[in-house]
Amino acid sequence: MKQEPKNIISRLLMLVLFFCFVTPTSFGQKSELSSDFHKNRRIQLREKLPPNSVAVFFSSPVRNRANDVDYEYHPDPNFNYLTGWNEPHAVLMVYSVPQKDDSGFFSEKLYVRERNPQNEMWNGRQLGVEGAAKMGFDRVVSKERFKKEQQAFDQFDQVLIFDFKNDVRDDPRDNSDLFDLQSHFRTTIGYTSDFNASLYRIYQRIRTATEEEAPYLKRLIRYQASSDSTLLKDPLINDFLNRDPNAQVTDLQTRSAYLVRDYNFDIDQLEQIMASLRERKTPEEIRLLKKAIRISTQGQVEVMKALHPQMTEREVQGIHQLVFKKYGAAHEGYPSIVGAGDNACVLHYITNDKTNIENQLILMDLGAEYNGYTADVTRTIPVSGTFTLEQRALYKIVYDAQTAGIDASLVGATFSDISKATNEVVQKGLLELGIIKSPEEYRRYLPHGISHHIGLDVHDPGLYGALEPDMVITVEPGIYIPEGSPCDSKWWNIGIRIEDDILITKEGPINLSIDAPRAWDAIEEMMRQKSALDDFILPVIANE
Ligand code: GLY
Ligand code: MN
Ligand code: MN
Repeated sequence: MKQEPKNIISRLLMLVLFFCFVTPTSFGQKSELSSDFHKNRRIQLREKLPPNSVAVFFSSPVRNRANDVDYEYHPDPNFNYLTGWNEPHAVLMVYSVPQKDDSGFFSEKLYVRERNPQNEMWNGRQLGVEGAAKMGFDRVVSKERFKKEQQAFDQFDQVLIFDFKNDVRDDPRDNSDLFDLQSHFRTTIGYTSDFNASLYRIYQRIRTATEEEAPYLKRLIRYQASSDSTLLKDPLINDFLNRDPNAQVTDLQTRSAYLVRDYNFDIDQLEQIMASLRERKTPEEIRLLKKAIRISTQGQVEVMKALHPQMTEREVQGIHQLVFKKYGAAHEGYPSIVGAGDNACVLHYITNDKTNIENQLILMDLGAEYNGYTADVTRTIPVSGTFTLEQRALYKIVYDAQTAGIDASLVGATFSDISKATNEVVQKGLLELGIIKSPEEYRRYLPHGISHHIGLDVHDPGLYGALEPDMVITVEPGIYIPEGSPCDSKWWNIGIRIEDDILITKEGPINLSIDAPRAWDAIEEMMRQKSALDDFILPVIANE
């Protein structure tokens, strides 16, 4: 057990040390999105809410790194999208119908933390209630009020929420931190500690299933039960799975309806509503995405020019990050993937610690995050400056596949149209090179999806229906042949992905990341250029 300091001097010393080391979290980044943008997004959200409902959003938690050091704070993308409020311990409520208080009607209410001079001294300026009040919300109040107001959530037909994640810590010094706000809210809406989202979703499905859908639903539940055996212990699910095939579902439906109606909150609709809002970007968002993408492509260009055989994966990552910050991007939008040779075949490789990359292909999947919006750009280049015959043969397949995928990114097309276009080229190319013997074998070497939305999240939410103007998506085919694969060993340890960010328009796809060369000969040409970093030579630090 840790010993308590005994006297007042040592207590003071502890206090000073505590504040010296605690939480280097940075808050309150200035947003380049206008208050009107966020206001308009809230109006759009309100229009999509079901009758007599309220949508409740919580800011993301402050996450602990170790001991008394926290990770840099990252705002929740939905919260950021709707509010532009980037400080922790906040709640937003958006009502489908206006509410009334002593000052009149309001349709939204933001709860934020008050300014605290002590906290500001260590962690930087906070905006407080006064700052938030200038951002165009109907109501802004102190977060302490969230607990005191005794909101009657049972007056709403539906309370729309994102399901809670088990990742919020209580700060014992603050009795209205995010942990306390969520605990209070959960109690008020009857979200008990044993609430089981999987069960809840299955009850919903049983409640709405027709006789024809019942066999499929049974198979689905049995599949889920293979990884969650508690499902089979539930009496209602058991009844449903084992009931007489000739019996009607009515009785089960009545019972599941009762169980679902026991609470008025909903953990699924909000995800769909936010996806439908966020999948098409406004002009303000497109401007920020273009900036994030152009910054990222400059990172790729600089590495192409500066790369030399003695560099390490980590150094390559560092050049990208230097360029990102030089252009004002706060950081990477996701952990950078910089993998040479065998590491390029590891899809989510983020260790980036290989020191000998000579004569290998290096795959670099990086995105700058600018004002919350992230790019997602991958280039794969030869460390030597010239592709070998094998590297080039595979690179050309991926290049042609990506070209076909970008060409297929048309208004009205689907995401599966894009993958069909890319994957057919990869399939054909691998067959021609004799790397695969049968067409379906190509999946061994291209096991991932081809396209996703980008925005405030690198994998931005969307409904993934037909493509519409103002969506921004990636097209990212690849081929990965790890050592030991069933093909000629000359192909082993080659991993290639080419990923570009595409704006969908009525006039056709626009490649926003075109500034980073993607054709093999254009890459070789760029790699012959001089870099300002060629002269950036640091003294050797010896291991002693
Ligand atoms: N960088 C992650 C992805 O490409 O989806
Ligand atoms: Mn991607
Ligand atoms: Mn990527």
